[in-house]
Amino acid sequence: MRRIGVLTAGGDAPGMNAAIRSVARSAIHEDLEVIGFERGYAGLIGGQTRSMGPRSVSGIINLGGTILKTSRCEEMKTPQGLRKAADILKKYEIDGLITIGGDGAFRGASELREASSIPIVGIPATIDNDVAGTDTTIGFDTAVNTALLAIDKIRDTATSHERIFVVEVMGRRRGFLALEVGLADGVEVILLPEVEFNLDELCEILKHGRRERKTSEIIVMAEGAGNSRSIVDHIAKNTGYEVRLTTLGHIQRGGSPTAISRVLACQFGHYATKLLIEGAEEKIVGIKDGRIVSSDLEYAWKGKKELDLRLYQLARILSA
Ligand code: F6P
Repeated sequence: MRRIGVLTAGGDAPGMNAAIRSVARSAIHEDLEVIGFERGYAGLIGGQTRSMGPRSVSGIINLGGTILKTSRCEEMKTPQGLRKAADILKKYEIDGLITIGGDGAFRGASELREASSIPIVGIPATIDNDVAGTDTTIGFDTAVNTALLAIDKIRDTATSHERIFVVEVMGRRRGFLALEVGLADGVEVILLPEVEFNLDELCEILKHGRRERKTSEIIVMAEGAGNSRSIVDHIAKNTGYEVRLTTLGHIQRGGSPTAISRVLACQFGHYATKLLIEGAEEKIVGIKDGRIVSSDLEYAWKGKKELDLRLYQLARILSA
């Protein structure tokens, strides 16, 4: 192993830069050359490279986003795109590739592995935390804390106006982000894609709260749980309470990574590089019960990660 490639693919996540830094510094420590591919798989296909010396990753551990930039690449889902990517890896004599991203990035990595036979190790970095094979992903803790600060602020105006707020958070089709921030903020209701809910029951919970002298409520809703606007309209119509909607959106993807996200990125980047050097062919790194582990690349995007419903039940009890 003489030269490795590194790229970030899919939605960006705070801590990706810390992971890039860890890969580069760990590889250089082992006398490897590091080539960065810009703009994710689109840049790989286009041969957009940058040499990654030790100074190229100075001063980035605290920066959100990714210095290599990223993209969602439709061409990578075509045989022609995979062929082009495989040819580029060969042209630049890449002996192993590290892809930093979420389940979509790892699906592309699996298909690229087939097309190129280049060893690939994935580093899970997504605010969704929906990657099987790891308890948590780089960026998830940062996004939770970003959403938490925003919801704390919303609670100020909710209590002042005695209103109900539905706050839509990201997470794509999963509820990991919504559940974590909902419990952390002590919200009244958490709506998740994984847990069926009935709008009339929801209205009853809110009415019960008012009978119990609650004067405002916060509902955290995962974007994959349904249409937040229609839920707001249903509540307003069926309870008569003042209801507002806040969609946090892409603010959850930015910001300086927390210590937890940074430390995870340092550990993941180092272990991914170590796995490549030791001959791993298609793995992702992860953390399980506090230990840094590896699992099959295919499982990372084909496997379904379970939500801890005990947290959901706890949130219900504590929100009474
Ligand atoms: O996968 C991360 C994520 O932020 C999801 O939570 C969200 O649904 C999606 O990306 C948004 O994608 P885009 O940034 O392409 O609009």
